[in-house]
Amino acid sequence: NLSGLDLREEINRLRKERNAVILAHYYQKPEIQDLADYIGDSLELSKKAAASDADVIAFCGVKFMAETAKILAPQKTVILPDLDAGCSLEDACPPEKFKAFREAHPDHIALTYINCSTEVKALSDIIVTSSSAETILQQIPADQKIIFGPDRHLGGYLNRKFGRDMLLWPGVCIVHEAFSETELIKLKGQHPDAPVAAHPECPPHIVDHADYVGSTSGILQYAKTMVGDTLIVATEPHIIHQMQLALPDKTFIGAPGADGNCNCNICPYMALNTLEKLYLALRDLKPQVHIEEGLRLQAKKSLDRMLEMAK
Ligand code: 13P
Ligand code: SF4
Repeated sequence: NLSGLDLREEINRLRKERNAVILAHYYQKPEIQDLADYIGDSLELSKKAAASDADVIAFCGVKFMAETAKILAPQKTVILPDLDAGCSLEDACPPEKFKAFREAHPDHIALTYINCSTEVKALSDIIVTSSSAETILQQIPADQKIIFGPDRHLGGYLNRKFGRDMLLWPGVCIVHEAFSETELIKLKGQHPDAPVAAHPECPPHIVDHADYVGSTSGILQYAKTMVGDTLIVATEPHIIHQMQLALPDKTFIGAPGADGNCNCNICPYMALNTLEKLYLALRDLKPQVHIEEGLRLQAKKSLDRMLEMAK
């Protein structure tokens, strides 16, 4: 029974005792973001995990992110508050099917979104995040054939923006897929001067309405530089917490789903993490991420290429 505990105090005590660093993605609940040592997008959190001198990494995000931390920092204990925190993109790309797809296209390289399993990373040539994809793609010769997976919306956006014809794996993020164009148009009508910032995991009918398209950290940066006082945010709404902290006088409105509000766009996987589970994970050092060494080394190759090319 945890009811008598001051969870914040206990987490702070355990963080010191364990020499742990708490990393949190922008889609985590505000109370977790407020306790984290670092908050960031997928690329920033991977870099923090690799560079940290902590003994324990408490990863408040989803499983593929905690696995990325373990691939890059195998000597550290990596814990995740809830091992069931998956991702619809990872689920949409089973390694056996991805392997068969690769084998069917031997003249293509695999450029793969970080939102996938360790096995799929091991089958890929270069990993990208939403903040590094554009820089990396521009370093690949125009005549190189490419398979892009698992997010067909991010891949389609890159194809359109850079005139590429990458073959797209048919995965989607269920969160970004849930925005409604009809409701977005209505909301824009109510706030005609407000720009729209969208994540490239959104489908084209949402991205087409955006004034800015980029990763979570890109969207946050855009908010900090915009001239108006209201922004419509087409990504998981928990990021608005950081916007509101940095810019208390501005108004941030989550883009709506079909029901007209942004609550249906909360990531159900990210939401599995709670302060209680973070406390228990730090106390018991579980659940932990374990990766077989051969698989880890193979997956690390494509991640290392990302880290080199994203510079
Ligand atoms: P970024 O934070 O890298 O933009 O990723 C968004 C996301 O959906 C993570 O699951
Ligand atoms: Fe996966 Fe989408 Fe959730 Fe990110 S927001 S973890 S891409 S389901």
